[in-house]
Amino acid sequence: MKTACKHIGIIMDGNGRWAKERGQKRSHGHEAGAAKVREITQFCSDRGIEYLTLYAFSTENWKRPALEVSFLMKLMTKYLKNELPLFIANNIRFETIGDLSLFSPALKKQIAITKEATSHHTGLTQVLALNYGSRDEIVRACNALREHNEPLTVELIEQHLDTSSFPPVDMIIRTGGDIRLSNFLLWQAAYAELFFTPTLWPDLSIDEFESILKTFAQRERRFGGLN
Ligand code: IPE
Ligand code: IPE
Ligand code: MG
Repeated sequence: MKTACKHIGIIMDGNGRWAKERGQKRSHGHEAGAAKVREITQFCSDRGIEYLTLYAFSTENWKRPALEVSFLMKLMTKYLKNELPLFIANNIRFETIGDLSLFSPALKKQIAITKEATSHHTGLTQVLALNYGSRDEIVRACNALREHNEPLTVELIEQHLDTSSFPPVDMIIRTGGDIRLSNFLLWQAAYAELFFTPTLWPDLSIDEFESILKTFAQRERRFGGLN
């Protein structure tokens, strides 16, 4: 069955290696990564993609050196402030998945401001996965359902995932050459089409992105059934 690509998930990996290749600090790679987020978001918005979920900070990324973590927190706050005009100009709605409770008041405030300012937009929804980990998400969903008396169902669990209000993810792209999901959308990936490219995230070109979309359009999705 051919399905339109409504929802793309991206594991944006390779910022650190991109910087290293240039003899620069990892933080420089993260800045280049944020610029790429803007470019790909604009492209998806122009192409009429409905949902773009971007893995920006995992529940495991707290293990990185404190300086890198604090740089990423500041960068995310700055990114959101800078992106608001783009979101407004392009009718883009901003959403998040993940547990925001561990973030600084400044970042939490900027997230809330951006969500509020774009909540009525009807174009692309950009979803940032922030302090997101699928296992954490599933545990939170199960805990929310602890008092439920009836047997659990797939639908009930899905209604309690962070992604409950979004359509199913159609494709997951990982840049940076590693062939793994690193705790990203594990439940939701059940029937997603997977794409892995060695290209480092800041190097991903619109041409390559378009060619991945073309390959997606040629894949036959059977969802367990027959053609
Ligand atoms: C992905 O790039 C961005 C985050 C995880 C925040 P990396 O920082 O993991 O870059 P590499 O994988 O070390 O090159
Ligand atoms: C995945 O990249 C997380 C994000 C892109 C935010 P990592 O660099 O953290 O993944 P591993 O450690 O290589 O699995
Ligand atoms: Mg990495």
